Amino acid sequence: MNRRNFLLTSAGAVFAAGPVFAATPRIQVLKSPTCGCCSAWIAHVEAAGLSVDAQDVTQDALWAAKDKAGITPELSSCHTGFIDGYVIEGHVPAADLQRLLAERPNALGLTVPGMPIGSPGMEMGDQRDAFDTLLVLRDGEILVFERHV
Ligand code: CU
Ligand code: CU
Repeated sequence: MNRRNFLLTSAGAVFAAGPVFAATPRIQVLKSPTCGCCSAWIAHVEAAGLSVDAQDVTQDALWAAKDKAGITPELSSCHTGFIDGYVIEGHVPAADLQRLLAERPNALGLTVPGMPIGSPGMEMGDQRDAFDTLLVLRDGEILVFERHV
């Protein structure tokens, strides 16, 4: 069994059956006005075909929005996105976001905590940190949604 199949199996119990999205919904993104990597991530998801409504907010408002969405400080990153009932925190790869919308797990959403170097919007030459995209369940449980090595 390869790694991807293993992860799908381990996370499979929470995935509800649902239609594959036909029209791409818009993602609303809250970010700090001074955040350059946020804008780079927005360009990444736009290049993947998502529509983005970006909104600059104060850092206090951003923290409040994360808290309300169930994103704890340990799970947090820079920007916070909302799409189709899910929260998308930080530098989540567009492919993971699209898989989330296709599989529609019963969950709060996805996060890439911190700002791993080499994640979309955090490119720095050839440098790459391994990072995981995490699936946050409604009860606070955390599953690995996708590994990026
Ligand atoms: Cu960032
Ligand atoms: Cu950001």
